[in-house]
Amino acid sequence: MTMESALLPVGELVAAVDGFLTASPAARSWDVETAFDWDAADAGRLTEGQRSAVRFVTFIEDHLPGYFDVYQRFFPVDDSVDLPAFTHNRELYHFTVRWALEEDTHARALNRYQVDSGIAERDALRAELAVEGRKPFDLPYEHPVQFFAYALVQEKATQMYYHQLRDVAGDPVLAAVLSRLARDEARHFSFMADVVSRYLRTQGDDVVGPIRDVIAGFRMPLADTLRGYWRWALRIADVADYDHTAAYEHLLRVLDRAVDARTDRLDELAGFIAQCRALV
Ligand SMILES: [Fe+2]
Ligand SMILES: [Fe+2]
Repeated sequence: MTMESALLPVGELVAAVDGFLTASPAARSWDVETAFDWDAADAGRLTEGQRSAVRFVTFIEDHLPGYFDVYQRFFPVDDSVDLPAFTHNRELYHFTVRWALEEDTHARALNRYQVDSGIAERDALRAELAVEGRKPFDLPYEHPVQFFAYALVQEKATQMYYHQLRDVAGDPVLAAVLSRLARDEARHFSFMADVVSRYLRTQGDDVVGPIRDVIAGFRMPLADTLRGYWRWALRIADVADYDHTAAYEHLLRVLDRAVDARTDRLDELAGFIAQCRALV
């Protein structure tokens, strides 16, 4: 089966995109310049571990061009795909550009926090981010549902981490930034959950294997490229719980909610997720 033939029927995708945009009215959006009291930002109120966590998540958010590019490559909006696939991809693009704007805003907010709170000096931070930012990002997938299942887990894991870090953060300005970010990630998760549910309802068990492969090979973004990633990831997990396998449970809940009853293959996936959880 090719990527193109396995795409969600366009009407299903349109419903998911419409739902996302309805849940994201411009009136409720925020901007880096006015949403926070930057003058009060003070990294002196953070522990060393919390400062380290802010630097870590800034790298992750700042890699947006790499994430955005994945959508362009796998869901192209040009004549490299047939007309039905283009039509699908053009609709998805309405989501992708909006999502990208929000993620780019996250990158800028964390950047600004680092500078105004005194964690980093602006030029040095820009140079440091560029070294990692130009490294390639790729996802090794063949079925379209996999991109959404991956993003579902990743958005949920990020949302949970921001929540937890917010709860312990000693600087109220950082807490305010993380609250905004977590709320956006929750909306991104909901879109991914909606799309994955629609895949399961329209393609049934055919998507369970591909989703299982996403879990089996799961890596958080930049795990393979960011210098010192694993040691750093363990260290920030001490600051606030950063366990992406907890997000697998949310994926399973989404799948369960999409069907009336578990099939054998879905049951097997549930067992597999339980095993992954037991390993951590
Ligand atoms: Fe984000
Ligand atoms: Fe997000």
